[in-house]
Parts: sequence; structure tokens; C-alpha cells
Amino acid sequence: MDKITVDLGNRSYPICFGYNNLSELGKIIRGFDFSDRIGIVTNPEVARLFLNTVEGSLRDAGFSVFPIEIPDGEGCKSLEWTSILYDKLVSLKMDRKSALIALGGGVIGDITGFVAATFLRGIPYIQVPTTLLAQVDSSIGGKTGVNHSKGKNLIGAFYQPSLVFIDVDTLKTLPKSEFISGLAEVIKYGIIWDSDLFKDLEDNLERIIGLDRKYILRIVKRCCSIKAKIVEEDEKENGVRSILNFGHTIGHAIEALTDYKSYKHGEAVAIGMVTAALLSLKMGVCNEDVFHRVKTLIQRAGLPTDLPEFPKDEYISAIELDKKMRSDKVKFVLAEDIGCVKFADLAAEDISKYLG
Ligand code: NAD
Ligand code: GLY
Repeated sequence: MDKITVDLGNRSYPICFGYNNLSELGKIIRGFDFSDRIGIVTNPEVARLFLNTVEGSLRDAGFSVFPIEIPDGEGCKSLEWTSILYDKLVSLKMDRKSALIALGGGVIGDITGFVAATFLRGIPYIQVPTTLLAQVDSSIGGKTGVNHSKGKNLIGAFYQPSLVFIDVDTLKTLPKSEFISGLAEVIKYGIIWDSDLFKDLEDNLERIIGLDRKYILRIVKRCCSIKAKIVEEDEKENGVRSILNFGHTIGHAIEALTDYKSYKHGEAVAIGMVTAALLSLKMGVCNEDVFHRVKTLIQRAGLPTDLPEFPKDEYISAIELDKKMRSDKVKFVLAEDIGCVKFADLAAEDISKYLG
């Protein structure tokens, strides 16, 4: 099994990758200093697909295993469900060395990480991501949290996992629309950091969408190593980590304006990336070719590129609500070239001038 390390001193951890490797998880976890009681947080859909294998692997490795299911969906990434999970952990007599496994997509990963960060002032947790978005982004870097009624991810903590364990074969059962949505984040890494990855995507997009495991494993590993480097440099998002927000300022505004109902996150980010590239072009930061390559790849992936129509003042208000806004300016990420971005402090009004 391949491995890369997220190097964060005493908070360092490995990311293990492979195909059809879920049954090896127990053996790997045995190498950690956890107690024998281990919880698996998951949802019914993911449990149906993978819980038996993961549970069996842990039992074979000598653990007492406690599966804990929460309903599927973003609605469960809440303080209410956090509290239900605390109750469960108390009743199971989990101690400070009991680990939690987050088996699922970003929703399961974020809430499990948050519960782990706060229960008994911090217990270990392991990310076993089963969506493309979670494998390339949310499982790495320690952003944990839940939503507040006034906004997404408003409550949370930076808390790193002890291990990220990726089986790319889990993506075979992922609905195509979820896979394509995750692909937006993969394209993002190409734009912000890695022109070779972008070229690889341009050359092999159909193989990747067709789930050719060799290509999938290669791009997932590449994205994880980029994310690891960024997090190593800036764990708590005081600087370079913000480049991961490329396309997200407008993407979040689109999600908020459409009540999180019309677009998947990756779809909104895809439109946000095309719009950010257009802004970069109009501001003279990149040339036509860069804009054209970004838009074409996103279109070829089957992602949307057109900004939904809302009055400009509604876009301005939505951008201003973004929690990353500081002193009336947003740290907007512009594309200079494929593989190279820069920051510009822009007021929401300045951004809106270029919308449409
Ligand atoms: P998700 O967790 O809701 O999963 C999407 C759907 O796929 C769900 O219905 C899930 O049950 C199903 N599913 C998961 N794995 C499957 C599989 N292998 N086969 C079949 N179905 C499967 O969505 P997501 O896109 O993975 O994550 C979105 C969440 O991630 C959001 O809450 C977002 O805020 C968060 N996020 C966090 C970070 C971070 O750094 N922590 C980064 C990006 C996004
Ligand atoms: N998903 C953005 C980050 O982890 O910073």
C-alpha cells in the first residue's frame, strides 16, 4: 500500500492509499496506541456498502467495535447530532484512547472529527473517506465542524486525524453526480498548484470519469500530496492555505443564493472557478489561453460553467456573508496561469462589477 505523510511535528499522520484495501484497516490501526474500544461513525448508505468489511477487519485485529449510524445528509452535520454522538460515546464508556473512525464522505468526516476534537477534550480519529471530495480534500488537514442555522461550517476546530486511509475502489458505488462534483476539487488543484496534474486531467479525463483505477489512484495521490504540502505550510489557514478557496467565494455565494438546493458543492465551485478565471482575465492577471483551458476542462467534466442569474446586489450581500471576509474585503484567489494563483483583496462590489 502506498503512503504519504502529512508532516506536522507531533501531529503528523500518514495517508495510506490502495485498491480494495479496506480489509487491511484493522491491521494498520493495530500499529497505533489506541485502546481496544473503537467506534465507527457512518450513515446507513455507506454502512450498507462497507461496514461489514471494516468492522470485520477491526474485529480480526482484536478490537471491540461499536458502529454508530447517523442519517445521511448535510442536515445531520449539526450540534444536535453532535450531542447525540456524545451521548452514545458516554454510554459506550469510550475513554481518551478510544478512537473514532469516520467512514463516509465529507459530512461524516467533518462531524466525526468535531466530536473527536471535543469529546473528553480530544480523542483520536481516523478518516476513511468514501467520496472523491473527501478523498482529495476534506479528510486531510484537520478542518472539522458542523453547521449553524445561520451558515455552513460556522462551528468547528482544527484537529488533525491520526490516519487517513483511502480505498479508491469505494468510489465505484458513488453516484456519478457526486463523483463529478468531487472532480471540481481535483481540477482546482491543477489550477492552483500543479500544471502537470491539469495536463493529466486534460489528457485522461474520460479514463478518470470511467473510473480507471490506475488513473484514479494517481490523481487522488497527487491531490493528497498537494493538500499535505499546503497544510504543512499553513495548518490554520493564515496564509497559503487560502488558495484552496479558489472558486469558493463565488461558489459559496451561489450555494447560499440557491438555498443549497440547486447545485452540489463542486458544481457551484466549478462555476466559481470559471468566474474567478474570467475575473482574472478581465483584470489582466491571466491571458485568454488560461481562461479557455479552465473553462473547457470544467465543461468537459460535465460541470456547469454559467453563473446563475441573480441581481448584483444579491451577489454582493452573499459574498459579504462569507465568513472569510475581513475588513470589508475578501481575500480573492485569482488565476495567473495554470498551476499558479495569487491573492487580491477585493470588496464584494469590485467582484460584482465583473459578474455578467
Ligand atoms: P457527503 O458526505 O454528503 O456524501 C455524498 C453522498 O454520497 C451521501 O449521500 C453519502 O451517503 C454517499 N456516499 C458516500 N460514499 C459513498 C460511496 N462510496 N458509494 C455510494 N454512496 C456514497 O458529501 P461530500 O461531498 O463527501 O462532503 C461534503 C461535505 O464536506 C460538506 O459538509 C462540506 O462542508 C464538507 N467539506 C469539508 C472540508 C474540510 O476540509 N473539512 C472540505 C470540503 C468539504
Ligand atoms: N477545503 C479547504 C481546506 O481544507 O482548507
